[in-house]
Amino acid sequence: MARGNLSIHLAERPTGEIIPGTTFTAKTSPAPSPSDLKDGQILVEVLYLSLDPTLRAQLNDRRSYVPPVQIGAVMNGASVSRVLATRSKQVSEGDYVYAATGWTEYAILEEGKFEPSSQYPGLRQPQDMLSALGITGVTAWYGMTQIGDPKPGETVVVSGAAGATGSVAGQIAKLKGARVVGIAGSDDKCRWLTEELGFDAAVNYKAADFKQKFKEATPNYIDVYFDNVGGDILDMCLIRAKEFARFVECGVISQYNSADPKGIKAIGQLVTMRIKMQGFIIFDHREHFPRARAEISKWLEEGKLKKNETILQGGLRAAEQGLVDLYRGINTGKLMVEVKNPNETPSKL
Ligand SMILES: NC(=O)c1ccc[n+]([C@@H]2O[C@H](COP(=O)([O-])OP(=O)(O)OC[C@H]3O[C@@H](n4cnc5c(N)ncnc54)[C@H](OP(=O)(O)O)[C@@H]3O)[C@@H](O)[C@H]2O)c1
Repeated sequence: MARGNLSIHLAERPTGEIIPGTTFTAKTSPAPSPSDLKDGQILVEVLYLSLDPTLRAQLNDRRSYVPPVQIGAVMNGASVSRVLATRSKQVSEGDYVYAATGWTEYAILEEGKFEPSSQYPGLRQPQDMLSALGITGVTAWYGMTQIGDPKPGETVVVSGAAGATGSVAGQIAKLKGARVVGIAGSDDKCRWLTEELGFDAAVNYKAADFKQKFKEATPNYIDVYFDNVGGDILDMCLIRAKEFARFVECGVISQYNSADPKGIKAIGQLVTMRIKMQGFIIFDHREHFPRARAEISKWLEEGKLKKNETILQGGLRAAEQGLVDLYRGINTGKLMVEVKNPNETPSKL
């Protein structure tokens, strides 16, 4: 009997938070087989599925940098997979690839739609292709070095600081000689930032005295703000901005689940403090990936950069609740779901 291929599909568009059991529906169809492959295609099994804040935004029927997920379609998602069969010369059986497979256990991919692990220097384990060497790592590198561009002694503030992007962005700012202040959602995360990652200060935005503590942590105001969250924290950072500050607009996770997103109140600060605020989407900057990955890999090797992964067990079915929990801060470092452990025998299809 043919092996089943579990996939998770969008059932209905949420207006606020994702509702487990309602927003998505699971389906099982026959898994693809090597005989289905055409020239240039590969057959893969997903090992780790990346859970990313932007996935919630892709459920809205709105113009964005990617088309919205359609009702009934397989949920969007990137993963690291193992090649089970290949009719492409770019990879061999058993290689790892990064691709936008969606929420599925098996997929057929064509050349140009996957990245072989050879593009990830210093790769130690497949999950690194989703974490420090993956999209969030290069996003941190690009936003911090090409937009924020901190100088030695400047004050850099990073929100979402204990997450995949923020934790790398803050450490890169430290490597550039800046004084780095992280904002995160628990005392444990703040301790991790200062004690393990070398941030100069970290402030818990859920604590009652957050605003006062943040003021104390930024006595010389802010030169670079790496924004992962938007909302009230962005307004607070605008108010603490120094003249000619650079605001790197990477993401606004505090607004992704909101049916009525908040605007910026302190917009006047852009003028009075002559702030440069720049948003970016990392996929516009692929030409920087080789250099970003090479530098990140070297820093990891030298112990100058640390990373963490929060890996959810339970297979593909754990993705739905995992995505809900991402917005509740379940993760320290990169959040992903283990769909299949790479140490297990490859599937025979
Ligand atoms: N521009 C680009 O090309 C690009 C590429 C990748 C990612 N991004 C953006 O970068 C940001 C971080 O993404 P990531 O993948 O690295 O995720 P992540 O930071 O690993 O995970 C998200 C974190 O956000 C925090 N959070 C959740 N709700 C929040 C809220 N209401 N206010 C403040 N913090 C909140 C949680 O930590 P706490 O416990 O601290 O709340 C959670 O752990 C997101 O905004 C994402 O959209 C942008």
